Amino acid sequence: MGSHVRSSLFPLFLLLTSLLSTQAPAKNTSFDFTSFSFLNLTLLGDSYLRNRSVGLTRETIVPSSSSGTAICNLPIQFYDPRENISASFSTKFSFSITNPNPESYGDGLTFFMSPGNGTLGSTGGYLGLFNSISAINNVSIISIEFDTRLDAGFNDSSDNHVGFDINSPISVKAEDLSPHGIELKSGNLITAWIDYHNDESMLKIWLGNSSDKPENPVMFMKYDLSKHFLEYMYVGFSAATEGSTEVHTIEGWSFQTFGFTTPNLSSHVPYNMSDSSWSKIPTIPVTGPQGSSHKKLSLSLAIIGPVALSTAFVMFVWISVTKWMELKASKEGLKSDLLKGPRKFRYRELSSATRGFHRSRIVGNGAFGMVYKAVHPGSGITYAVKRSKQAQQSQKEFIAELSIIACLRHKNLVQLEGWCTEKDELLLVYEFMPNGSLDKALYCRPESMLKWSQRYNVATGIASVLTYLHQGCEQQVIHRDIKTSNIMLDANFNPRLGDFGLARLHPEACNEKGSSDSQLRGRAHSCA
Ligand SMILES: *[C@@H]1O[C@H](CO)[C@@H](O)[C@H](O)[C@H]1NC(C)=O
Ligand SMILES: *[C@@H]1O[C@H](CO)[C@@H](O)[C@H](O)[C@H]1NC(C)=O
Ligand SMILES: *[C@@H]1O[C@H](CO)[C@@H](O)[C@H](O)[C@H]1NC(C)=O
Ligand SMILES: *[C@@H]1O[C@H](CO)[C@@H](O)[C@H](O)[C@H]1NC(C)=O
Ligand SMILES: *[C@@H]1O[C@H](CO)[C@@H](O)[C@H](O)[C@H]1NC(C)=O
Ligand SMILES: *[C@@H]1O[C@H](CO)[C@@H](O)[C@H](O)[C@H]1NC(C)=O
Ligand SMILES: *[C@@H]1O[C@H](CO)[C@@H](O)[C@H](O)[C@H]1NC(C)=O
Ligand SMILES: *[C@@H]1O[C@H](CO)[C@@H](O)[C@H](O)[C@H]1NC(C)=O
Ligand SMILES: *[C@@H]1O[C@H](CO)[C@@H](O)[C@H](O)[C@H]1NC(C)=O
Ligand SMILES: *[C@@H]1O[C@H](CO)[C@@H](O)[C@H](O)[C@H]1NC(C)=O
Repeated sequence: MGSHVRSSLFPLFLLLTSLLSTQAPAKNTSFDFTSFSFLNLTLLGDSYLRNRSVGLTRETIVPSSSSGTAICNLPIQFYDPRENISASFSTKFSFSITNPNPESYGDGLTFFMSPGNGTLGSTGGYLGLFNSISAINNVSIISIEFDTRLDAGFNDSSDNHVGFDINSPISVKAEDLSPHGIELKSGNLITAWIDYHNDESMLKIWLGNSSDKPENPVMFMKYDLSKHFLEYMYVGFSAATEGSTEVHTIEGWSFQTFGFTTPNLSSHVPYNMSDSSWSKIPTIPVTGPQGSSHKKLSLSLAIIGPVALSTAFVMFVWISVTKWMELKASKEGLKSDLLKGPRKFRYRELSSATRGFHRSRIVGNGAFGMVYKAVHPGSGITYAVKRSKQAQQSQKEFIAELSIIACLRHKNLVQLEGWCTEKDELLLVYEFMPNGSLDKALYCRPESMLKWSQRYNVATGIASVLTYLHQGCEQQVIHRDIKTSNIMLDANFNPRLGDFGLARLHPEACNEKGSSDSQLRGRAHSCA
């Protein structure tokens, strides 16, 4: 009876223990950006991505003020509360500080560790990281500053120094770089190495003109950072200007934490099965030859029991999930027969259909990038593929376009067939329009002049689709860029409105942001 009750309760007990032991063991983190992409970074303020480098401040006319932050999306574990261990870390990055107007300069950049992923501070000497409020709040922002302005208010010693800051632009320790042969404002690519060893509480900073790490650090100090470490923190860069145009660029960044111990499995083996109160066994006795057979039996039960039961549990879950997936797949098969919505394309598929984005396949060129004719090698179906240039602005437009057009359906719209976001590229796939754009038909091909009936058809078609966009669809869409080059002609010379890059949803979604793949998928599917 007792064993019966116990065995029926056991799965529940397994579930409970797995629910209760929520603290995952700490893991060392490591990443290496040879080039930056939108997928891994949050850009705040004036920061931007250009040519796969991160720019933190804008180059605008003097006097200008700017502040920007780039934060790695990955939360990084710096403290393991379970083992009471703090991480050590090591990072290397290259940066350049240039100034188009040498008579004004300032203020510098920082590498930081912050409790949140939304850290953006004030311009000027606050270096885009701090502001007068965070100095009061008890948040621990740890940073290394590379300061190019002598700010007497912040106790700066020179206009070319490195400093270690906690929660304030007034450095705990700073070091003038001129004696070390480093000129931050030179515009050269400078490489920085920052190491912190928790065992010795030692922070060291090296700076060099090349990627060879110099022998001696420019600054080192004994400081126990662990008291400022939270369990998870975010790492990134910030910079600011005030009344100057200094441009701060980061090119390449690697970061790693280490020092967390590998999980101690023996402390995880849970419970003493022969004890009905389920008390925790502190350690597994090493199976010595002197152990009685009774002990061995209960020990092997303690090990085999959970293993067998969890195997059964996993099997059960696996079978249920497979069943559920089958059911879902059959439903989705039906759904895709009924509604053909935009789908996700593979990059390989599009690359082969455009012969590796060959020049000969270019059929258009716009603000967003190139348009290619794609012929599916198997089926022979023809598509038009829009390929974004790697500039931030055009990617924003791209996503605006996708999220708007994915939900629209009208016979005078260029139909979106799908998208692809692999290899850091954004590609939109459309129906192919064999007769090109209206402006070409009107002005470039006098030999095939549009007949009056066709012109009338174009005018009424566009009027019809505009009525749909403004009044007919669920969320009003303002195209904002109706012109002949954005009106396509299909095989029967019916007009098709395209290029929704500047369009806006009206009125709620005007300040919509976001760019993740899952967001795209969510939007595109929510209307399919
Ligand atoms: C950036 O994110 C992409 C997609 O999530 C991933 O494949 C890539 O490894 C990440 N790169 C780094 C350096 O973390
Ligand atoms: C982009 O970077 C590459 C090398 O990383 C360089 O050759 C190229 O000139 C850069 N392009 C621009 C527009 O800066
Ligand atoms: C930033 O952190 C918040 C929670 O602290 C989270 O909801 C959000 O997704 C994070 N953003 C990124 C880009 O990681
Ligand atoms: C964690 O370790 C530090 C020393 O590394 C010690 O001062 C502190 O008391 C410990 N905290 C706990 C909760 O054990
Ligand atoms: C500030 O944080 C430290 C540790 O991070 C803590 O010891 C201290 O009590 C906090 N002070 C206030 C006012 O919250
Ligand atoms: C500024 O630096 C001087 C010496 O360099 C030091 O005596 C003073 O306490 C510092 N002020 C602040 C606010 O840290
Ligand atoms: C680094 O470059 C600067 C400016 O070109 C130069 O003055 C300095 O001597 C170089 N430093 C070293 C250590 O090579
Ligand atoms: C973390 O790195 C250290 C090396 O400092 C290594 O000994 C340890 O096993 C690693 N821990 C994990 C969980 O990978
Ligand atoms: C594993 O944990 C047990 C008890 O929790 C402890 O006695 C043992 O020393 C630990 N082993 C290691 C390698 O940390
Ligand atoms: C399990 O607990 C009982 C009583 O608490 C004890 O007598 C027995 O030795 C324990 N078994 C093992 C394998 O530690």
